[in-house]
Amino acid sequence: MFVLCCSKHSSIQRQLFRRCAAGEKSRMRVLALLALLGCLQLTAAGLPFRLRPRGPWRGSSGPRAQPELSQPAPLISQCKEMWRPTRLDHFSEANPSEFQQRYFVCDKHWREGGSVFFYVGNEADVLLYLNNTGLMWELAPKYNALLVFAEHRYYGQSKPFPAKQLRKNMEWLTSEQAMADYATLIWELREQLKDPDVPVIGFGGSYGGMLGTWFRCKYPHLVDGVIAGSAPIWTYKGERPPYDDGSFAKIVTQDASAEGGSAPACASNVREAWKALMHLGKTEEGRQTIAVALQLCEDSRLDGKADVRALRDWAASAWDYLAMGDYPWPSSYIVNGAQPPLPAFPVRAACEHLADRDLPDDPPALLRALRSAIGVFYNHTRDLECFSFKQGPNPETDEDADFWGYQFWPEPFDEKATIEGCKATWGVTPRPLWATIQWGGRRLEGCSNIVWSNGLLDPWSGGGVLQNITGAKDLVAVIIPEGAHHLDLMFSNPADPPSVCEARAVEEHYIAKWIREARGRPQPSLLQHGALLAAQ
Ligand SMILES: *[C@@H]1O[C@H](CO)[C@@H](O)[C@H](O)[C@H]1NC(C)=O
Ligand SMILES: *[C@@H]1O[C@H](CO)[C@@H](O)[C@H](O)[C@H]1NC(C)=O
Ligand SMILES: *[C@@H]1O[C@H](CO)[C@@H](O)[C@H](O)[C@H]1NC(C)=O
Repeated sequence: MFVLCCSKHSSIQRQLFRRCAAGEKSRMRVLALLALLGCLQLTAAGLPFRLRPRGPWRGSSGPRAQPELSQPAPLISQCKEMWRPTRLDHFSEANPSEFQQRYFVCDKHWREGGSVFFYVGNEADVLLYLNNTGLMWELAPKYNALLVFAEHRYYGQSKPFPAKQLRKNMEWLTSEQAMADYATLIWELREQLKDPDVPVIGFGGSYGGMLGTWFRCKYPHLVDGVIAGSAPIWTYKGERPPYDDGSFAKIVTQDASAEGGSAPACASNVREAWKALMHLGKTEEGRQTIAVALQLCEDSRLDGKADVRALRDWAASAWDYLAMGDYPWPSSYIVNGAQPPLPAFPVRAACEHLADRDLPDDPPALLRALRSAIGVFYNHTRDLECFSFKQGPNPETDEDADFWGYQFWPEPFDEKATIEGCKATWGVTPRPLWATIQWGGRRLEGCSNIVWSNGLLDPWSGGGVLQNITGAKDLVAVIIPEGAHHLDLMFSNPADPPSVCEARAVEEHYIAKWIREARGRPQPSLLQHGALLAAQ
């Protein structure tokens, strides 16, 4: 019945993860890690650029292509790149200008009477999601689905202003505006397909899953249901019970220990390495030792304690990314598609460098081992002569990473420091409670038709929906004990654990149900006022 299945020879240590479903409630307390900024400042109105005169996509009704079993040609060759004008500001008349939003339409499997599978774009070039959202591609033939990948404003190529002017014009970068872009796009697609009742299923991972969740709650007339992979919607201030802002680090640590299949000494060696860094960092001589052991570049001089702390945070964030990207097969998803991919289970690969229990006895050796371990992430290209701890692994996407910092608060969460940081970097003051006031925190009974999936290797799962929500229609939580960041949305792979296959089966069950319900929706009739009067 389900098109997705995995080979049976991949049973990973399921039993090791007992933190499933029920009993998880106490852990789901929240840090206000991701608080949407309500951008308050008013800046000069911008004019749209990037006006590419390409017409809107029109449905094609050619013969249906054969489903493909392997994927030799790049996926993008099955898609058309589209541009559409959309309002810069959907909610005010003060600035009526438009900009060009990019989206991709892939119609190989589309047939009249089919459905639209809509990727709710998040904080990167939308091609990253087109290339990696295998669940949409694998289900498309069976549901005659038109695949649409919509790019989030300000990211990728959907920039409302020329690069140099973007930073001065950030006020229209909000999730509300992005969702309004998607809403108007879906409205247009329906018209182009000449099928006002076409079922639309949303897909999104991470922030895309958060957007997908809010999109379904806000625009249920435009999207019939949403698969939200690893969407940490419960990480905001003001939730009851509050988010456990230690859960992220706790899960990263678990991944780097025997529980996560890693070398047993790894997590404690990493902790010792942080101590060694801070201890050596106190003296000039010690900082010299650190610089040599970690192979730091000339431009990354350690002039004092503050630099050492920044270095430590930079090294620690490698572990955060490795944990999010702890997939059972090689993947470059977490480095934004940059080649070569990270190895399978990259946390375990990093931990192999830190397996020796005696490392703490020799601090320089411990730091050299740490360098090799974080190199699994930062040096995945294996061509860095030295580390510059002010640089990410994929400089081309640094601008997107920057905007991410504008939209969301960094962690670990320190409200005061964060507000100061937002003011200094962006000139805006965050509104910590706005997300919860606007989207409802844990009170989602007014929503329906959402499947949230969470992998327990993923540090974001601590802010996700891990239990079915009762009292509303189809608010379903799916747990993938051996899954990293939205593993279920990726292409299926022989190395997938059975739990992700089961998760995809549940997701497909609901997709099929929502499509049936959308097609069976009773047609509203016009109530004649006169007839009503006459009947009195
Ligand atoms: C997506 O795939 C295409 C074709 O394989 C490639 O050229 C492009 O760099 C990829 N983009 C990302 C962001 O992964
Ligand atoms: C990056 O990897 C290469 C190849 O393994 C290695 O020679 C180089 O020293 C590494 N760079 C750093 C900064 O660790
Ligand atoms: C929620 O309900 C679905 C059945 O619709 C079930 O497959 C799933 O395991 C339940 N989730 C949890 C976390 O119990």
